[in-house]
Formats: sequence, C-alpha cells, structure tokens
Amino acid sequence: MVFVHVYILNVMALLLYVYYTSESAHSPTDSGALPPSGQGAAPPQGQHLSPPAPSPEPVSKQQHDTVLGRLRRLEGIKVGHRQKVDLVPNKIHYLKTLSLKPLLFEIANFLSEEECKLVIHLAKLKGLQESQIMPSDIQQEAIDEMDISKEEIFNLLDYNQDGQLQMKEVLTHTRFGDGVWITPENIREIYTGLEADPDGNGLLSLEEFKQLNTNAFQTYLRQRGVQKTELVRNSKHTWLYQGEGAHQILRAIRRRVIRLTQLPPEIVEHSEPLQVVKYDQGGHYHAHHDSGPIYAETSCFHTKLVANGSTPLETSCRYVTVLFYLNNVSGGGETAFPVADNRTYDELSLIQNDVDLRDTRRNCDQANLLVKPLQGTALFWYNYLSDGEGWVGEQDEYSLHGGCVVTKGTKWIANNWINIDPDVQRQIQFQQAVSKYTHEEAPAEWAVDNIYKDLHVEL
Ligand SMILES: *[C@@H]1O[C@H](CO)[C@@H](O)[C@H](O)[C@H]1NC(C)=O
Ligand SMILES: *[C@@H]1O[C@H](CO)[C@@H](O)[C@H](O)[C@H]1NC(C)=O
Ligand SMILES: *[C@@H]1O[C@H](CO)[C@@H](O)[C@H](O)[C@H]1NC(C)=O
Repeated sequence: MVFVHVYILNVMALLLYVYYTSESAHSPTDSGALPPSGQGAAPPQGQHLSPPAPSPEPVSKQQHDTVLGRLRRLEGIKVGHRQKVDLVPNKIHYLKTLSLKPLLFEIANFLSEEECKLVIHLAKLKGLQESQIMPSDIQQEAIDEMDISKEEIFNLLDYNQDGQLQMKEVLTHTRFGDGVWITPENIREIYTGLEADPDGNGLLSLEEFKQLNTNAFQTYLRQRGVQKTELVRNSKHTWLYQGEGAHQILRAIRRRVIRLTQLPPEIVEHSEPLQVVKYDQGGHYHAHHDSGPIYAETSCFHTKLVANGSTPLETSCRYVTVLFYLNNVSGGGETAFPVADNRTYDELSLIQNDVDLRDTRRNCDQANLLVKPLQGTALFWYNYLSDGEGWVGEQDEYSLHGGCVVTKGTKWIANNWINIDPDVQRQIQFQQAVSKYTHEEAPAEWAVDNIYKDLHVEL
C-alpha cells in the first residue's frame, strides 16, 4: 500500500478514539462522510516513524505569481511590537505581536460594541447547534474493514519501544478530532472496568493489549454515559454567510479582514463563512490545531471538488485564523496557547505524568500564553508557516490553542478562517472554477461560503 504509514496511523486514530454518542443529538453534518482522518487527525510524529513524505512533486511557483500573487505575510518583529494598521477610515488600529511561534497578533477594538452585539443577534436568529461532532457508522465500518494486526498497532503506539504501553503513549493517540476527552483517570477507569490491566501496574503489555476489542474504549464509555464537560468541545455554534448580499456588517467585517491579513480578496471571499461560537458557563474547547498537517496525500476540503481523485487525508487548510471576542466574560474563557514561543515542540512532552497541557479545563495556568477575552478584540494568527516562496508551507505546530473553561457567565466568539490550498495549482483551479460561476448563480458548491448559505455544516 502506498500510503501505508498514514493509513496505519489513521487506523489507530479510529481504534483508540472514543466517540461520544447521544440518543437525542443527531447532527446533520457532512463530517461523518469524511475519511477517518478529518481535521485534526494529525498523525503523531514519533521518532521511529517514517517522516511524512515531502510534497509529491515540486509545484511550479511561476503561475501563482501571475494569477494570485504571492501571499503577503505580516511581520511580527518581536513580542510586544506594535504596528499601525489601516482598517477603517478615520480610525487607528494597532497590531500587537503576542508571539512569533505561532505568528500571533492582537488588535484591540477591531469590532465595535454594536458590531459584536449584532453578530450575536444574527447568530441567535439563525440558531446554534451543539459543536461536538457525533460519531458515524462510516467510521465504525472503516474500523471493521481494516486489516491490521494487534501487534502492528501495539508497535506503532509503543513510541519508546519498551514493549509496554505507558499511559502517555495511549493518551497521545486519543487526540483525533472531536469526541470524548480522555484523561488519565478515564484510562484507569477503563482499564479497571474492562480488567484490561490485571497486574494493575498502569502499563499495557502486548498480551494485555491483545485481549482488548478494537472498539473497547468506545464501547465502554458509551455504556457508562458521557457528560458534555467530558467532550473535546463543549459549546454551541452557527455559521453566518458573508458573501455578496449578506448583512452589511458581515460584509464590512470581511473587508476588514482582507485589509488586516492583506491576503488576496478573491481568496478571502471564497473562504469559510463566519463561525459564531457560544460557550455557556462550564464550556471549554481543549487545545487543538485549526487545520491539520500537510502530507503528500492530503487534500483540502475546499478544493477537493476541483482536485481529481480521492486522497486518504483531508484537512480544512485554514492558513489563517482571525478570532473575535464578542463579549466580556465574567470568569475564565481565556484563549490558551500552551506552547506559544516554546523553545522546542514535542508532542509527547505535552503530557507529563498526569498533566496534559492540552487540557483547558485543568491546565490553562500552565500555558505559555493566555489571552483574556475582551469585547471587540481580534486575534490573528497563521496556522501554517511560509514555504519561503510566498505560499503556504508546513503546519505551524505551535499554533496549538484552546478555550479555557468559562467559570462565570457566557462567552461569545467568532472565527474567520482563510482557506488556502498549499498546492498552488489546486488553489488556482479552485479560484478559476469559482469565478467562472460567480455571475451565473450556478453550482453553488464551488464556493465554500455558499455551501453554508442555508446549512449548518461543520467542517
Ligand atoms: C482533472 O481532470 C480533468 C479532466 O480529466 C483535467 O482537465 C484537470 O486538469 C485535472 N485536474 C487536476 C488537478 O489534475
Ligand atoms: C468590556 O471591558 C472593557 C475593559 O474593561 C471595558 O472598557 C468595556 O466597556 C467592557 N464592555 C462592556 C460591554 O461591558
Ligand atoms: C518546551 O520547551 C522546553 C525547552 O526546550 C522543552 O523541554 C519542552 O519539552 C517543550 N514543551 C513541549 C510541549 O514541547
């Protein structure tokens, strides 16, 4: 099999990833139709694993110079640096550098109080849905079809190759997409409940591992029941269309984002619509990446219609995130960047003993950077590095971030993502396809934003 390393890692994602199911909530999302490796399904970067294949063929950088131009990328200079930006007439905004890894800025008063209120109002009118993605039969079927031995899986999980699975090795592999957030206590509970670890040493030997069914974790937690606070994300959200004909405030926000990011307007215009998120008291979103790593086999959700053939990995290709705080939060609700400007990044180091730095219910105080929500403030960061030639490069792992638990009141935020395919040719083809149809009111599915016009869809 060509994509064997990616494939096997995805199998593991499926095996160990425990899904949350609830009788009441059937989420009409299209995410269930994704291959097992949707957004956030980052194959872990174990040292003994073969590194991700580099880009398949060198993409010609000539064409995009003429069609889309090189992508502007702002400069951070240094943490604390302030630069003026020209966003709206007769008003001065400052871009303050919060970190260089990821390249992250804060802009105070990006939105006015009235604009924040209106966005919240429109979101309420549209109606919000639970953010947690529900499991799907497709994923379960995919597990059943996989022909991979327990030994193989065990070996992949066993990073340090000591013949035993430490808690950390299991935990690291339970972080794929949305579902139940697995804590060390959960693992112990499951081990006890399933008598998976008879000698009680907290380690799984190959023999012990072999006794477990492929979906043992999943089945166990489903039977004992799962609360909302145990999910990866505990929030509600909706999408607001920002394209032509949208509410003038939403159009104004989009134009301001174009000025802020200095990215080609045609790219921003065909990116995802505005996502509005509401966290009630007790709400959170554990730390994650907004968009996954890019392998040779990865394609983007937004360009897959123009790309031929299917690929085993898909991600949202969100080059940029612009996050808006829509209200002042009475307690908690900070945005945590656990590894911002850390000297090094090592996925396994995110979990030390029982402290998981990605856990935003417990460990926000240990994050390298915490941003307090303030109405009207925007955060802006890059989820990918530059490729050095003016286009999208590798994922910036330091962009890991999450929403800390709201201890008092409600938290409202909105997100604008700018989707750019790291494969220049595919992005160009996408733009051409979109512009061809723009004035014909024809196949709406070409424009990402249009897909959301009437739907509640989770990417
Ligand atoms: C996809 O296939 C069509 C027709 O076969 C071709 O014209 C187009 O260039 C292909 N696109 C890519 C990205 O390979
Ligand atoms: C939010 O907090 C800021 C800073 O404390 C304050 O200036 C602003 O008036 C507050 N906004 C509202 C709507 O309370
Ligand atoms: C942060 O940097 C320190 C110093 O290089 C390193 O020891 C630690 O593992 C890093 N943390 C993560 C999560 O990579």
